[in-house]
Amino acid sequence: MTLEWQRDRDLTDANTLRLVCRADRYVAAETPEELQRACLVAHEQGWPLTVLGGGSNLVLGPRLGGLTVKPVFAQWWQESIDTDTVRIHADAGVTWHDLVMSVAQQGLWGIENLALIPGHCGAAPIQNIGAYGVELADVLESVEVLDPENGDLAVMSAADCEFGYRDSVFKRDLSGRAIITRMVLRLDRRACPRLDYGNLAECVGRPDPTALDVAEAVCRVRRDKLPDPTVLGNAGSFFKNPIVTAHHADALFHEYPELPHFALPDGRVKIAAGWLIERCGFKGVRQGAFGVHERQALVLVHHGGGEAAELLAFADDIARQVSERFDVMLEREPRVIGA
Ligand code: EPU
Repeated sequence: MTLEWQRDRDLTDANTLRLVCRADRYVAAETPEELQRACLVAHEQGWPLTVLGGGSNLVLGPRLGGLTVKPVFAQWWQESIDTDTVRIHADAGVTWHDLVMSVAQQGLWGIENLALIPGHCGAAPIQNIGAYGVELADVLESVEVLDPENGDLAVMSAADCEFGYRDSVFKRDLSGRAIITRMVLRLDRRACPRLDYGNLAECVGRPDPTALDVAEAVCRVRRDKLPDPTVLGNAGSFFKNPIVTAHHADALFHEYPELPHFALPDGRVKIAAGWLIERCGFKGVRQGAFGVHERQALVLVHHGGGEAAELLAFADDIARQVSERFDVMLEREPRVIGA
């Protein structure tokens, strides 16, 4: 069994920030077996292995050594569980948004609020994608993972994934030790719209929406606020919304009563990083090849010709000013590789 790879492959189109990057060796894995083979070759040769998904949550340095592999197998199918519930099985290479729109069109509920999130299904559990009051963890039943050291496949339950806000075990203990090859979601045929977030209910604009109505409203809200990565390079939110203690939050509210926030069940408070960044005067600011988006300060954009190091320095500058002014630490959201 051989494995064919491309040499010195340009990855500019493989990351939505559109950073110029070249991979020493690159394979698009058409099947899980090809992915297994790529892992074993990298292991035998002692090459670092980089796994790419849709590239929408990545900051890439100028060169990736070793072997870069992108799972592109992209089948999905559904399995009826009972009259109300359906299981969706989706391969790693399935485009998340296409899946959302297809299931919403079929009247299946559960992921309609997650429309237009860029990226592939294989990456969605890593950061537990979320938007408009819903997270992947709410509907994920299990994932199939591949151990890159020996190519073995295993199934992990949602509990095994240890999901948190933009977090999972794949970012921590299993970082570099598990590649998600498939996910299984549990969706509902019964209408269960979740329209509490912001002005979503108003955007949907009708009392008994279909899942497709909600997905389309979410698309409109996102198109209005977030830059389209095919037009302007970006990786979505560049920072997580910070979570602070109730005591710290009280001190902040005393000085800034208008600070947007969300109380968590454990008493801590999640505060809006976009608001903090905007209050530091960064919204719409451009520094060299990068900038802070003019309609959503949590999103950094790439105007072209820049490198990861410059972007990371800009992000550090933003985080430092937020910390100095509000005593709040911003944590970076996208994964940084090779920079
Ligand atoms: N806000 C500002 N200024 C800004 C941006 C936001 O004042 O420049 C305020 C808004 O007015 C609002 C609050 O902050 O009161 C929250 O803003 P928004 O609804 O835009 O959401 P967010 O907290 O900034 C999060 C996710 C987004 C997701 C939206 C909607 C994170 C890191 N980001 O952003 O996810 O689409 O909620 O649910 O949690 C992503 O992860 O890439 C992403 C885009």
